[in-house]
Amino acid sequence: KKFVGFVGWRGMVGSVLISRMIEENNFLNINPVFFSTSQVGKYAPNFLNFSKKHILQDAYNIVDLQKMDIIITCQGGDYTNIIYNQLRSVGWLGYWIDAASTLRMENDSIIVLDPINIKLINDSIEKGIKTFVGGNCTVSLMLMALGGLLKSKLVENIIFSTYQAASGAGSKNVIELLHQMGYLYNVVSYDLALEMNSVLEIEKKVSDCLRYGQCPKKFFHVPLAGNVLPWIDMGMQNGQTREEWKVQQEMNKILNLKNIIPVDGTCVRVGALRCHSQSFIIKLKKNISVSEITNILKAHNDWIKIIPNDFQSTIDGLTPVSVTGTLDIAVGRIRMLNIGSKYLSIFTVGDQLLWGAAEPIRRMLMILLR
Ligand code: HSE
Repeated sequence: KKFVGFVGWRGMVGSVLISRMIEENNFLNINPVFFSTSQVGKYAPNFLNFSKKHILQDAYNIVDLQKMDIIITCQGGDYTNIIYNQLRSVGWLGYWIDAASTLRMENDSIIVLDPINIKLINDSIEKGIKTFVGGNCTVSLMLMALGGLLKSKLVENIIFSTYQAASGAGSKNVIELLHQMGYLYNVVSYDLALEMNSVLEIEKKVSDCLRYGQCPKKFFHVPLAGNVLPWIDMGMQNGQTREEWKVQQEMNKILNLKNIIPVDGTCVRVGALRCHSQSFIIKLKKNISVSEITNILKAHNDWIKIIPNDFQSTIDGLTPVSVTGTLDIAVGRIRMLNIGSKYLSIFTVGDQLLWGAAEPIRRMLMILLR
């Protein structure tokens, strides 16, 4: 059995990875070794009912890391920056599977999303590539949704608007959003119970609290509850944010395209917990009916869930609330836009921690263990 080192398994993405591996019995075929940056020497939680107790190894100890056949890390970009080159420079030839963005655009790394690029993954393993990185969550979720259209070479370009959940910013941000929600409610709970003040008086109290009050905002810098934030990650020279820049770069790298498909749009943080939603305007290369499009989308992978374009189906099935915690890629609001016969509109929702982060790297590990 291969020795597989786990780093960052306690965080949000890491925990989702571990629970998916337990669900799929993936620990049966490996010798897991749990590394820690903070609790070296303590026992690893025995969530797997292992017969022997696992002692946490030092995630900064190159000698111990070198013993691994495969290392899978959800520890984040700073860890990758510190460790990866050191490990390679001592001649370690194992497989490095990473959730962080640090190595994504390197020439000798592959961005993994096997329902989309299994051929590229297989060819790369054959060629001796050893570094496999999960894509940005919006990119992976977009490709899972639009895979059929892209594979059928029907797409000329894509304009997106995203509605990204708090979890994409980190676990502390999810907690902060919940504190914000509670804080705002408390400001007006008395008024709401008495039903005496007008809605505008109540709204003003909340708005004043959002603007001038003590609403917790250490991590988001401003309230996200009752708000939307059209800025994610750093600014780029060209006016895009880095989150927006990544979409075209990573998508075309995953698809391994010579003639790139232009993709651009606006990435927005909203007060959802862990599902990213995205609205796409897709310029198609030819006229094609909505029912054909629906069939192409649906046939691409097992996780697509087509949501009929009506009110009840949409609010029941095409929302973060309905998709959260599942591997479903909900795809709906499929219709041609009035602006031209080749302009297609689609809305999609996916769990940012599952297909957006943990699932592609879990599946990559399984591919390496075949
Ligand atoms: N960058 C994403 C976000 C999450 O901020 O929502 C990770 O891919």
